[in-house]
Amino acid sequence: MQVAVLSGSVFGTADMVADEAASVCAKAGLDVIRIKPATVDALLAAKPDSLLVCTSTTGMGELPDSFMPFYLELQSRFPLLTLVPFGVIALGDSAYGDTFCQGGELMRELLLELQAVEALPMLRLDASESVTPESDAQPWLEQWASLVAG
Ligand SMILES: Cc1cc2nc3c(=O)[nH]c(=O)nc-3n(C[C@H](O)[C@H](O)[C@H](O)COP(=O)(O)O)c2cc1C
Repeated sequence: MQVAVLSGSVFGTADMVADEAASVCAKAGLDVIRIKPATVDALLAAKPDSLLVCTSTTGMGELPDSFMPFYLELQSRFPLLTLVPFGVIALGDSAYGDTFCQGGELMRELLLELQAVEALPMLRLDASESVTPESDAQPWLEQWASLVAG
């Protein structure tokens, strides 16, 4: 069972969480493909059995600039990912109010439109609450990886 792990980050936190995700998935026996930087061509070439996306939010509820081209290309090419199990880890800061974790929300909605299936409800990591996102994500990651590994 393969998993493609992608990340969208401004300052590197979401990249670090994605690296941690890759290691948890590998320990759970998944065959990890860390796609960095994220491109649609690399994703489609990998034809992964499952997909894990970690992204932060910037601006007023936007995806990181470096991740935006991937999102927009995925939206315009619209490759169906029918029944592919996925998970999203959204990094944000609740101090931003209504736009809290909006970047992850955008990614999640697009994957659902592409007919992928959310294996576990999106994890929100709040920078106002904690400064240890990688370790905070561990229990969720272990659960996600074991669900996907079957
Ligand atoms: C300029 C700026 C704008 C931000 N806007 C939002 C936002 O709209 N919603 C949110 O939930 N978090 C927002 N954040 C918080 C970041 O998403 C959060 O700090 C995250 O952990 C950063 O992860 P990164 O290092 O991977 O970019 C913003 C942070 C900065 C610096």
